Amino acid sequence: MTRAKTTFSVEPLVGADAPAYNQFFRQATLEHPDTLRISPADIAAAPFKTEHAEGTTFAARDDAGRLLGVVTVEREAGREKRRHVAWLLRMYVARSSSGQGVGRALLRAALTRARELPGVAKVNLTVAAHNGSAVGLYESEGFQTIAREPDAFRDSQPRAELTMTLTL
Ligand SMILES: CC(C)(COP(=O)(O)OP(=O)(O)OC[C@H]1O[C@@H](n2cnc3c(N)ncnc32)[C@H](O)[C@@H]1OP(=O)(O)O)[C@@H](O)C(=O)NCCC(=O)NCCS
Repeated sequence: MTRAKTTFSVEPLVGADAPAYNQFFRQATLEHPDTLRISPADIAAAPFKTEHAEGTTFAARDDAGRLLGVVTVEREAGREKRRHVAWLLRMYVARSSSGQGVGRALLRAALTRARELPGVAKVNLTVAAHNGSAVGLYESEGFQTIAREPDAFRDSQPRAELTMTLTL
């Protein structure tokens, strides 16, 4: 049986979307404890913002406005000499919507946004090394692996993470 393709749109979130975003991303941490380094307790302790001084959180929604997926892109903060670096953060597509191009659409929206940030020359991300679908997606958009950290986070077992980068 083939599943009907979901139609969706990708738009930036605003500040008022934060509670719904954090609830949605909590679901991600419960579904994927082995590939996401963020835990439900982390979110409870420090909920994420959905508005950024130099970046954007994007959401994919279906025709009824339901969240299907999210991603954040943000300039690295705090160091003048690293202003050319942006980070891709918290990529997640709900399992029920995976494999339909939502992740790729979110990634492309984030990369377009990164190119708009003055002086940003590359986008970095970290990904669990065993997360083949995510690594495949990133590689297919041009990201290259530049580092591997063993025991980067621990859930039921130690997990290695890759750092990947895309020169814009
Ligand atoms: C990784 C993730 C974002 C992909 O989202 P998605 O909407 O399913 O991805 P898409 O449908 O856009 O697929 C894009 C590409 O990813 C790869 N891909 C997606 N699912 C895959 C799978 N199950 N196995 C192998 N490759 C896969 C393919 O290269 C695919 O391209 P193709 O369909 O042209 O072959 C999603 O599975 C997810 O949220 N996973 C859990 C959270 C997570 O690990 N996030 C990444 C943190 S760094």
